[in-house]
Amino acid sequence: MGERKKRIAVLISGRGSNMKALVEASRADDYPAEIVLVISNKPDAAGLEFARSRNITAVAIDAKAYQGRAAQENAIHQALVDHNIELICLAGFMRILTEDFVAKWPGKILNIHPSLLPKYPGLNTHQRALDAGDKKHGCTVHIVTGELDAGPIVAQAEVPVLPDDNAESLTARVLIEEHKLYPKALKMVAGE
Ligand code: GRF
Repeated sequence: MGERKKRIAVLISGRGSNMKALVEASRADDYPAEIVLVISNKPDAAGLEFARSRNITAVAIDAKAYQGRAAQENAIHQALVDHNIELICLAGFMRILTEDFVAKWPGKILNIHPSLLPKYPGLNTHQRALDAGDKKHGCTVHIVTGELDAGPIVAQAEVPVLPDDNAESLTARVLIEEHKLYPKALKMVAGE
């Protein structure tokens, strides 16, 4: 690849399986992005250990350590700046970023959401799709704006909803697609 890889931070709160998928994908020589920083708002997030095992800088920026949301977000922003981050991937990051923060990174923050947006922004997406009797469900990668789960869509993947599905089985089917979709979407955006 002629051009250098873009420097990516992934923000997580827990397991980090989508972050893992991004790390694995970015190992390919021709992938246009590399994960250089993982930030969790939870110190006990399992994903932090995985990132460290791959020699990726992984830090917890815990709300409890800061006086209020603005101070925590300032710390996150500073870490991103310090590591020369060019794009941010939210991957199971369970804290809503303020408009002030998002305005500092216009068009530079991606999120993966477990529904076919604009359906089901917010939480409990799988149960809501089941309750509505949907035949199709899936996941979306979108650009983060000041409005929750509402920014421009980069890519989506669909799965069927099967007659005997429950929230657990549907979650698992969507997650398999998330792990393919996020690397594909980041490739598109980082390669632009
Ligand atoms: C994923 O389903 C993602 O779509 C949602 O939170 C979950 C995070 O899982 N926003 P993981 O931490 O990436 O394993």
